Amino acid sequence: MTLREEKTTAEKVAALGGIPAKVDVEAPIISQERLTDGVYRLTAVAPSIALRAMPGQFVQVGINKSGTLLRRPLGIAAADNGTGNLSLIYRIAGKGTLALSQLKPGDSIKVLGPLGHGFTTKVQKPLLVGGGMGLSPLLYEAEYLQRHRCNAGVLMGGRTEQELFWRQLFKDYVNGIHITTDDGSLGTKGFVTTVLPEMLQDNDYDLVIACGPEIMMKNVAAICRELGIACEVSLERRMGCGLGACLSCSIDTLSGRRKVCKDGPVFPAEEVFF
Ligand code: FES
Repeated sequence: MTLREEKTTAEKVAALGGIPAKVDVEAPIISQERLTDGVYRLTAVAPSIALRAMPGQFVQVGINKSGTLLRRPLGIAAADNGTGNLSLIYRIAGKGTLALSQLKPGDSIKVLGPLGHGFTTKVQKPLLVGGGMGLSPLLYEAEYLQRHRCNAGVLMGGRTEQELFWRQLFKDYVNGIHITTDDGSLGTKGFVTTVLPEMLQDNDYDLVIACGPEIMMKNVAAICRELGIACEVSLERRMGCGLGACLSCSIDTLSGRRKVCKDGPVFPAEEVFF
């Protein structure tokens, strides 16, 4: 961040009378865009969250449906501290996300956040490794790093070319996009772990940041451990409160029992028992 940008953000926070660490707000939707089958990008106006949100953090999104507030944890795909816009990319996976996809500009959602502990942002040459919806929080990391003059590389994997619409979203923020598909329809045929060892040996990446299916993160972590490269992973667990109160997201780690919502979702890979 440049000095001028720092000042601008500080000025905005001061103008808002200071912003608490997390807030629960009603956020008007300004766009709802279909990215591919069953995957949408929703953008809402939530300046008090967008000003504070860091890459890797998440929000609890609530929809008023038949008088019930359904809350879903969603990673932050973009947070613009100029406009106050917050973008979330999600796949329809049940009643809550189906209801979310049916909302239109002019409707609003309840947003609680920003929550959790995000990715490392002070890094020289990171490689982002993602699969499926795990690429959503990595998109914000890529944009944030680029804005702070650090270009990450990205390695993304999917079953088919159609799942890798992400490459269009990342292209302005990263220094090289590497792709694998299970069926070979785009990039290298195989998994991200097919090409990762060679990529790490041929480059001087100082941190691998992985987000995606747990089996992918487990295998990425094992490769990084073997090659002596630092790695962090973003875990996904069923969540209740999202605030560290209900214990529904507790996991065992090398440093004891931790809550994914509060202590994570991002953890050093070596702390996690996969
Ligand atoms: Fe309640 Fe994590 S979701 S403690």
